[in-house]
Amino acid sequence: MGKSVLVTGGAGFIGSHFTEYLIQQYLDYEVRVLDALTYAGRRENLAAVDTHPRFTFIHGDVRDRSSVQQAMQGVHYVVHFAAETHVDRSILSPDAFITTDVYGTFIMLETARQVGVERFVHVSTDEVYGSAEQGAFTEQSPLQPSSPYAASKAGADLLAQAYHRTYGVPVLIVRPSNTFGPRQYPEKLIPFFTLRALHDEPLPLYGDGQQRRDWLYVHDHVRAIDVVLHKGQVGEAYNIAGGNERTNIEVSRLILHTLGKPESLIQFVEDRPGHDRRYALDDSKLRALGWQPQADFEIALRQTVLWYAQHREWWQPILQEQLEYREFVEQWYAQRQ
Ligand code: DAU
Repeated sequence: MGKSVLVTGGAGFIGSHFTEYLIQQYLDYEVRVLDALTYAGRRENLAAVDTHPRFTFIHGDVRDRSSVQQAMQGVHYVVHFAAETHVDRSILSPDAFITTDVYGTFIMLETARQVGVERFVHVSTDEVYGSAEQGAFTEQSPLQPSSPYAASKAGADLLAQAYHRTYGVPVLIVRPSNTFGPRQYPEKLIPFFTLRALHDEPLPLYGDGQQRRDWLYVHDHVRAIDVVLHKGQVGEAYNIAGGNERTNIEVSRLILHTLGKPESLIQFVEDRPGHDRRYALDDSKLRALGWQPQADFEIALRQTVLWYAQHREWWQPILQEQLEYREFVEQWYAQRQ
């Protein structure tokens, strides 16, 4: 039966892939995107669906009750991506993380309670668990966030749980690992280093470059959310792992090799304060619902790097903002010494 789905943050990286996927996969679904179009949300990201008859775009902020109420009217499912997501930005300017990630999620949950939606998927993150020195976190592991970003997401995650327990809002939570793919804002490791390498500029690797992340391709990420949305048990959280644990220096070398650039471009810089050493998730609960990642990491990384090389028109308009911001980050970290 046809459903109406509200996707918040649908003009961002993962939200736009999820929106495209829903439109293609479910021919009787109507998809509404609510997006504030902050620096990381861009209408261009929705170009593939923008004129589709089953697609509607609403420009609005999740912190604004009336925008959210308007967007959620008549909706069956909510998938809540909208958030400030970049750790470095949260260290320099935490305010927007608290207001958007915590208060914005509160407005979303409160509105869902009033409107009475069928399912509400809250997109959390593996960062809520903090650093995994060894082993892998299950959904029962304690939340021990390190950065203001991770703490804001932990706050949102706990609010989502509370809204299920207290009010019976049909919440499902996903906690995905580091995601990569086309259209990711070039502040994150893979697109940022790709653009640096394309310009023959040094790749600023924090600390010793031995931190480990588990990389999840964006198409696998959106399929996992689809599975949780349709088959997950209400009130439960689901980890989404990529199964591709790599050190940051390994990822940097792969980017350089793909572009035929020398490893001498790698430059070790002052570490990110509170930097989590490793993220690792046990995703057996999600796999029991029938999901498993399909992408081959090396191939998907190569395709992603080449997408940036071939889509200058996508990143050229945002490059200057990103360079200025990075300079600000590096100066701030250096001054802390
Ligand atoms: O784990 C999921 C999380 O992954 C998401 O919830 C976050 O929204 C997302 O930003 C990401 O967090 P990370 O901090 O792991 O991602 P980022 O791409 O910023 O950094 C990945 C690793 O690379 C991390 O160990 C820091 C390092 N790094 C990053 C940048 C941008 C560098 O060494 N140099 C850099 O310039």
